[in-house]
Amino acid sequence: MAVTTQQLIQWKQQQRPIVALTAWNYTTGRLLDAAGVDLILVGDTLAVILGYETTLPVTLEQMIHHASSVRRGVKRALLVVDLPFLTYQESIQQAMHSAGRVLKETGAQAVKLEGGNPAMLETVARLVQAGIPVLGHIGLTPQSIHQVGLKQQGKTQEAGKRILEEAIALEQAGAFSIVLEHIPSELAAQITQKLTIPTIGIGAGSYCDGQVLVTSDLLGLSERQPPFAKVYANLSEIITQAVQSYAVEVREHKFPLE
Ligand code: KIV
Repeated sequence: MAVTTQQLIQWKQQQRPIVALTAWNYTTGRLLDAAGVDLILVGDTLAVILGYETTLPVTLEQMIHHASSVRRGVKRALLVVDLPFLTYQESIQQAMHSAGRVLKETGAQAVKLEGGNPAMLETVARLVQAGIPVLGHIGLTPQSIHQVGLKQQGKTQEAGKRILEEAIALEQAGAFSIVLEHIPSELAAQITQKLTIPTIGIGAGSYCDGQVLVTSDLLGLSERQPPFAKVYANLSEIITQAVQSYAVEVREHKFPLE
């Protein structure tokens, strides 16, 4: 059965943790889906896969191109696509246009956008009213890297209170779930307890309703790892060894055999 946004909310009620990961093409989408991942995000960390330093340069066209590819590999998971930097912050009309294109052109079921300020809450409400499910994203919001860096957010009482208020307001605006990135685990626990929609944590401790990681971090493919990422397999090493073995065999006339 394909995962729906309502299913995620039921899983929160049943305390069944949500498993989320990022994907960037057909192959990663197909493998993650077959492995039973519940929510697959075509994140704007696609930018890093494309060789950029930050998430800022990735375009809506690139997101749509890669998300369409992921879509072809995903049968069961809920597919969510990030709206990239400055494709939704200018106006509600711009957000509606970008999110509409994502849903129409990729077949994804939802969009994710960063921030919980009053303008963003209005945008979320309008998208939801138009039938576009929205996954919120607060705490560390990498599209604001030049304002906040990549450091943990919500460390002071005041900053924590602001993030908690943003989470409550995003739920009221109609978001079906919220990503909490790089905040103290006690704050994530407090938010998770307050909300009826699920929280999905990344660097936010174990009390969230689900967890998400950037798949290239989990697979040991990233050049730089955030402090909270866990490497479950070192594919960089495996790929390098495989390619070196191939090169040796070609140079020594051992492959192909005849
Ligand atoms: O773009 C992305 O990969 C994300 C994750 C960090 C959740 O937003």
